[in-house]
Amino acid sequence: MLYFQLVIMAGTVMLAYYFEYTDTFNVHVQGFFCHDNAYMKPYLGPEESSAIPPVILYAVVAGVPVLVITAAESVLFLLQYISEDLDNREKIIVMGDCCYLNPLVRRTFRFLGVYAFGLFATDIFVNAGQVVTGNMSPYFLTVCKPNYTALGCQQTTRFISQQDACTGNSEDVTRARKSFPSKEAALSVYAALYVSMYIMCRVKAKGTRLAKPVVSLGLTCLAFLTGINRVVEYRNHWADVIAGFVIGGAIAVFVVVCVVKNFKGKPLLSVMPPEESAPSAHLLRQPRVEHAVEKYGAPQSPITYAEVT
Ligand SMILES: *[C@@H]1O[C@H](CO)[C@@H](O)[C@H](O)[C@H]1NC(C)=O
Repeated sequence: MLYFQLVIMAGTVMLAYYFEYTDTFNVHVQGFFCHDNAYMKPYLGPEESSAIPPVILYAVVAGVPVLVITAAESVLFLLQYISEDLDNREKIIVMGDCCYLNPLVRRTFRFLGVYAFGLFATDIFVNAGQVVTGNMSPYFLTVCKPNYTALGCQQTTRFISQQDACTGNSEDVTRARKSFPSKEAALSVYAALYVSMYIMCRVKAKGTRLAKPVVSLGLTCLAFLTGINRVVEYRNHWADVIAGFVIGGAIAVFVVVCVVKNFKGKPLLSVMPPEESAPSAHLLRQPRVEHAVEKYGAPQSPITYAEVT
């Protein structure tokens, strides 16, 4: 089953890669009205000269969750390890029929793997939206530089639908056609919400009752400002940013609620003692098994619930 998930993960990454770095999917070419005010905002230079350049954004979106989740899981594991209620057999979780994995490593990989999956899924949603709609960014006409005399723009309501109406730099024009929804808004909100929900669900230390919401709201505020900055720099419209927030937020909630189930760590007692573990048995939830045993009265053959990742 692990291999199957790796295949899905690889497919997701490949699709995101094709959207980002190749022109496999041609952007839809939308027409425009002559001198349309909505698209005549100034162009403040390439993305790298933005107040939040892509390098910083991607580094934060990739790095902060790794740091937070690894650090928190290590601390939680150490706290469990030094506390008395951990007995020997619980240090190792049987995983599949081949591997023994430290539960710390396993949980960290699981939470980060699901995070990465959601991140690439967000990227695919956003890129698909951009390519399919071909909505133009506020600075579109500034980089498009259409020849208004040649296009016959004497009457201003004329709609230009020629594919080659732009005379500007074609790379800039292509980027200006990918505006809806805003990728920066979607990725930053996704990352902020995932980490926030992780902190809220997983950190249970005393004295953090107020610190957790403060950190979570702070992260969400940073993501919000990242989206706002897109509008401030005339790189996206409000609708693009709001759509980005909705997509990123929805995928974060979906992934946390439905895939990692609110970061429920496996209760320590749920691990099968090694001598009982059949090759096909993965993990066993003690309460459910007791229940099943009581119910069906079949104590000899333990009913196992395979739980993958
Ligand atoms: C715009 O088109 C007109 C008519 O075809 C041409 O005379 C003029 O040189 C063009 N202007 C630019 C800036 O290309």
